Amino acid sequence: MEFFNNSHCSFLLFFFSFGLLLLLASSANAKVHYHDFVIQATPVKRLCNTHSTITVNGMYPGPTLEVNNGDTLVVKVTNKARYNATIHWHGIRQLRTGWADGPEFVTQCPIRPGMTYTYRFTIQNQEGTLWWHAHSSWLRATVYGALIIHPKEGSSYPFPKPKRETAVLLGEWWDANPMDVVRQATLTGAAPNVSDAYTINGQPGDLYNCSSQDTVIVPIDAGETNLVRVINSALNQPLFFTIANHKFTVVGADASYLKPFTTSVIVLGPGQTTDVLIQGDQPPSRYYIAARAYASAPNAPFDNTTTTAILEYKSAPCPKKGVSVKPVMPPLPAFNDTNTVTAFTTKFRSPQKVQVPTEIDDSLFFTVGLGLNNCPPNFNSNQCQGPNGTRFTASMNNVSFVLPANFSLLQAHHQSIPGVFTTDFPANPPLKFDYTGNVSQSLWQPVPGTKLYKLKFGSKVQIVLQDTSIFTPENHPIHIHGYDFYIIAEGFGNFNPRTDTSKFNLVDPPLRNTIGVPVGGWAVIRFVADNPGVWIMHCHLDVHIAWGLAMAFLVENGVGELEALEAPPPDLPLC
Ligand code: C2O
Repeated sequence: MEFFNNSHCSFLLFFFSFGLLLLLASSANAKVHYHDFVIQATPVKRLCNTHSTITVNGMYPGPTLEVNNGDTLVVKVTNKARYNATIHWHGIRQLRTGWADGPEFVTQCPIRPGMTYTYRFTIQNQEGTLWWHAHSSWLRATVYGALIIHPKEGSSYPFPKPKRETAVLLGEWWDANPMDVVRQATLTGAAPNVSDAYTINGQPGDLYNCSSQDTVIVPIDAGETNLVRVINSALNQPLFFTIANHKFTVVGADASYLKPFTTSVIVLGPGQTTDVLIQGDQPPSRYYIAARAYASAPNAPFDNTTTTAILEYKSAPCPKKGVSVKPVMPPLPAFNDTNTVTAFTTKFRSPQKVQVPTEIDDSLFFTVGLGLNNCPPNFNSNQCQGPNGTRFTASMNNVSFVLPANFSLLQAHHQSIPGVFTTDFPANPPLKFDYTGNVSQSLWQPVPGTKLYKLKFGSKVQIVLQDTSIFTPENHPIHIHGYDFYIIAEGFGNFNPRTDTSKFNLVDPPLRNTIGVPVGGWAVIRFVADNPGVWIMHCHLDVHIAWGLAMAFLVENGVGELEALEAPPPDLPLC
């Protein structure tokens, strides 16, 4: 063999080793971050009352995790609460590490009280703002925190480096135990009580009782440009967010950069994040930061309160003793201002031309919406307190998703355990009807099931998400685990394949992990199924998850070792 005597080949060999060195050098830069999360009951006082709140490490919101793109997180979670728990890393791709994704009974069985599980995953090619939250019943009402991904060491933002960075977590507070609120709703079949307050970094702010002494202050100085990372971690409510007298330059969402644009108000569905730049260009003073509901479902009850924090110029004149300077209050859109929402979401573009899948292998059409179940014969009237003696439900393509109880879906798939799920989730609605019209009551009752849709590794997928007006139309924030997707179009009414395909943006559509499907409308998304495993897709309004507004994809392994799901970690909780 003359292989290494050939000068051309030794040249190649040189480059090969050089490349390997580079690879080693860059992975030497990537860090491994170790964290301990203890889920525990903690006394938390809000709105004049103290509750035994489930927190991580006694903090509400929980700890902020900060990493660089390419780093690895190792989080040991110990459950010292009296509820089952899991943690989900919302928006993290979890390439081949589905076992660390977190949704209960999907990728793992819950961490039982007293038990631990260590989540281990690497952040690959994602930069910006994500977050983590419990993914078990309504625990995420208080078990959540920010997950901030800075650019790789040595690289920078695609915008001028901000002077300061602030994470703003919008939350929702019940003056009750949220686990009791959802339990009550499950018993009665009615909608759960709406929250009593929204919060900014855990605090309701000046407009609520017993709250103003703890209102969050966000500092800024004249002339500064600051980055504000806004996260909607509310349970059930899309929110408008604004700051008095200050404009936002939107630069990213869901840990993907965007072509910058300016706006004075942003809107986020639960699960979504938005990164904005703000300028300290106003007279040094105090300005309210405010958020309140975008309530798209006509006649549905919602929490109509307003949470505030204060943007405070460090050079603001000190108030005289005993007089407090009242911050300037911004206007907020009307609760049902869908026009403002549309104007905002249709401004989203990727920074450059992107590779949108074109030859589609799996062309899917999923209806998303609510429903009402007739009272089952063995139930009494207390258990059927939904509209006209029914129980609320929800579905995709008329299937109301039911989680398994004794295995996780991923475990059942990996170990070929029969009888846990079927793979016959329909690619299209079983029955075509006027989705956003006056839907006949005979179509209001979906069929329960644990149905998955199977995708070949590498399949190019398009999904039309179509809201229905069954019971009520509503803006549903639909989230897919394990994937980001391009949003190539959205509109109102029923999607029309003949006319609406001309609206597809195949040049620079935005990449997200959660899409607010327009109320009484539709959205079209595309992605490549390059991450093997079982991935739940669901409405991020937690009230709708329990009702079944979900399905799951089973993405098969590819051929190569790097196209296969990893082996489960030894401490994976089993049922
Ligand atoms: Cu924030 Cu199932 O996720």
